[in-house]
Amino acid sequence: MPERVLVAVAWPYANGSIHLGHTAGAYLPADIFARYHRMIGNEVAMVSGSDAHGTPVTIAADQQGVSPEDIYAKFQAEFLDTWERFGISFDLFTSTHTRNHTEVAQDMFLRLLDKGYLYTDTMSQPFCTNDERFLPDRYVEGTCPHCAYDGARGDQCENCGRTLDPEELIGLRCRTCGSSPEIRETEHFFLKLSAFEDQLLEWVRKQDHLRPNVKNFTIGYLEGGLRDRAITRDLEWGVPVPVEGYENKRIYVWFEAVIGYLSATKEWARIGGDPDKWKEFWQGECRSYYFMGKDNIPFHTVIWPAMLLGYGSLNLPYNVPANEYVNLEDQKLSTSRNWAVWMPDYLDRYDPDPLRYVLSSIMPETSDSDFSWAEYVRRNNDELVATYGNLVHRTLSMARRNFGAIPAPGDLDEQSRALLDEARETLDETGGNIADCRFRNALQSAMRLAQSTNRYLDSKAPWQAVKTDKADAARTIWTSMTVVNCLKTALFPFMPGSSEKVHTMLGLDGSVESEGWSWDPDALRPGSPLPRPKPLFRKFDESLIEEETARLGS
Ligand code: MF3
Ligand code: ZN
Repeated sequence: MPERVLVAVAWPYANGSIHLGHTAGAYLPADIFARYHRMIGNEVAMVSGSDAHGTPVTIAADQQGVSPEDIYAKFQAEFLDTWERFGISFDLFTSTHTRNHTEVAQDMFLRLLDKGYLYTDTMSQPFCTNDERFLPDRYVEGTCPHCAYDGARGDQCENCGRTLDPEELIGLRCRTCGSSPEIRETEHFFLKLSAFEDQLLEWVRKQDHLRPNVKNFTIGYLEGGLRDRAITRDLEWGVPVPVEGYENKRIYVWFEAVIGYLSATKEWARIGGDPDKWKEFWQGECRSYYFMGKDNIPFHTVIWPAMLLGYGSLNLPYNVPANEYVNLEDQKLSTSRNWAVWMPDYLDRYDPDPLRYVLSSIMPETSDSDFSWAEYVRRNNDELVATYGNLVHRTLSMARRNFGAIPAPGDLDEQSRALLDEARETLDETGGNIADCRFRNALQSAMRLAQSTNRYLDSKAPWQAVKTDKADAARTIWTSMTVVNCLKTALFPFMPGSSEKVHTMLGLDGSVESEGWSWDPDALRPGSPLPRPKPLFRKFDESLIEEETARLGS
């Protein structure tokens, strides 16, 4: 029975390019997961979009002297190009700057208001007398009251992950002019988060499939007590507050962006010609998985679930496989210091699959990990080229050179049968690990099969057997090709482009994706012609390491 899976991926702020941290944190794991579920025949909606509103975008616009609209439009186009080139297979990547999203967000707002979960109150907000404006969220900086990190922003502390209100910061200053703001009264809508504390605790304690880091963080957050939070801002850019008298305010970007998961599913359903289909994903039997970096956890395990509970009859997240951080050359990524690998830049120079492979190998699932260009070169050369690429190439070259086509295996010997059994188990194990969001383990299982097959080839030495026992050489090469045919499927979610190439080089029609998550050991028909094999990957020169590290931080 096919299942339904909502793959909900954190919405990148439309204020800068996608970098390696975003990719390893959210987009790549989500893509691997979605590709696998499509292949096993599940119904998948993988949705996200640009987070177009709020102070991240207006600050970028101020800095570059253009309108927020310009900034958003520029990055929306760039993101789409990045997904296309890197192979991130969204079913819909939209933005929060659509009429549909405005309607869905305002409907959520009004329903929560109606049910008494929103109320108005006056609050004190920093006001910069220099710039003559209120300073919401990222317009202020100061020291975090929880962890003493200086440089915490008015919405969240980057260091400890706590969500903040501007007036909680110590030594508050205006980020535009540096002056210390005065505090003025302003009226805003508040979300009655406190009303959901017990319900959320009870819910999260039962979610045994959550990663321990996500579960523990959430329980700690809830046990610390939930305070009601302001969900409107004194801004001009964003979704209008659908209440008279609030024309000068906007819905808070975080309250509004998480609603994007729902509005995007609705938009996707409409585009697909079945406008009610979103209901199957939000009200029917469906598991929703939310992919993101760890700084996003509370918004997805506390605030969004509270909103869903308040709205009523919408599915809560099933899993929130948030990742820790990837460091770069042993230092924290920093966009302002250009300590980052930017995806558009990477893709101008290299193929997607080596990076998809390396990031999957070091995916920060349980703790922070480190990306270095030395590691990139090493894993590419020693693992992709030497293990997988070489296996494919020598197997296919021997077949073509000695038999001119797929050879006939005859009766299989025990060693060959054992390898085929191992292939079958590997496909199951890889799939199981992907389904459990253990992407590193999944990739390791698949790569172990490639190693076993290389060892098998070394011990059977078909390049010698071909001179003395051609039937045995045929058997070995056919077996090795058949395992390669399995590997292309096991590795497809990680390296879809390379898998399709292997498929073509095996002389098969159609695509890996359309074959699904299955492996037919009799798929390779003896006598079928084989095209000339081309190398799958290319070896990198060590000089790449220095070239690339020299770009960092400049
Ligand atoms: N734009 C936010 C960030 O980059 C993530 C938003 S996820 C959403 O941290 F669900 F709220 F959209
Ligand atoms: Zn902090």
